[in-house]
Amino acid sequence: MNSENLIIDVDVKDEGPSEITNLLYRKIGQPPKPDITELSGLWGADSYDLENVDIFKESSLSEKLLVLEDCARGRLEEAYHIEKSGMAFTSKMTLLADTLQERKLYCQFSADEANHLEAITSFLPNISENHKDNPFIQLLADIINTGARRPLIFIIQVLLEGWGIDHYQGMFNSCRSIALGEVLSKIIKDEAGHHGSGLMLFNENEMTPTEMNYVIDTLKIFFQMVQVGSVGTVASIEKVKGHLSSSQKIGLLHQLQSRENAQRKLNVLKKLMHKAESNKIIEALEKNNCFRAFDYQTVMNL
Ligand SMILES: [Fe+2]
Ligand SMILES: [Fe+2]
Repeated sequence: MNSENLIIDVDVKDEGPSEITNLLYRKIGQPPKPDITELSGLWGADSYDLENVDIFKESSLSEKLLVLEDCARGRLEEAYHIEKSGMAFTSKMTLLADTLQERKLYCQFSADEANHLEAITSFLPNISENHKDNPFIQLLADIINTGARRPLIFIIQVLLEGWGIDHYQGMFNSCRSIALGEVLSKIIKDEAGHHGSGLMLFNENEMTPTEMNYVIDTLKIFFQMVQVGSVGTVASIEKVKGHLSSSQKIGLLHQLQSRENAQRKLNVLKKLMHKAESNKIIEALEKNNCFRAFDYQTVMNL
């Protein structure tokens, strides 16, 4: 199958419950019931490294709850859109599969992603469509639409699903909801399987020069989004506290240990690439300083 002929609406509309929903629940069971209904109660300040942030500590209780709510919403909405993209990705890979065994495997993964999406949705009231401003979700949709089989295996399964395990594990470790914790631990287990199969299917030496260039160019854009650090948390604080000057933002990034956190994530990504023995890709990204977190002044100038 030629992947160039296929255009996928990754962001297919959610029209709310219908008769189809009943059929779906008959198949996968009822979605989990949240034991904590306030988004602000799902994770504490420590989960976002806010416990040493002066502007947060000095805020009123209601302001603190608003920041926690916005951070939790950002986290869950991103997960919602990633899982939604996961369904489109696995469906495309089902069609692009080289063998029948591979096709059967991707069909199973597709069902996993649908289950993840359904479970995450139960904890997320009023999903907003403002993800159009989320460059990572936009990039992901673009990759799913334009990527060929081998680059997709590397970028999505080896890197993003491998990284997803670490990301969901962090969310699980500090989660205060037992019901959401159960959902997260199931997702982590499934994503480990998705990532593991990516490692088995990927071989850097099979990539064509065009595919190599596609992977490197795409990853340069993706790595930049990681190199900037905790700008999402800064945006949540600004939403509640009002406009912050550049120097206030730099102070905030310091207290959030943004650069250290970004560097830790970049190290995880590099380790995943080593695991896949993708030496040429690592070398190309190293030449572009992609594995080094940006300093705060650079973040402000972007
Ligand atoms: Fe998933
Ligand atoms: Fe997955």
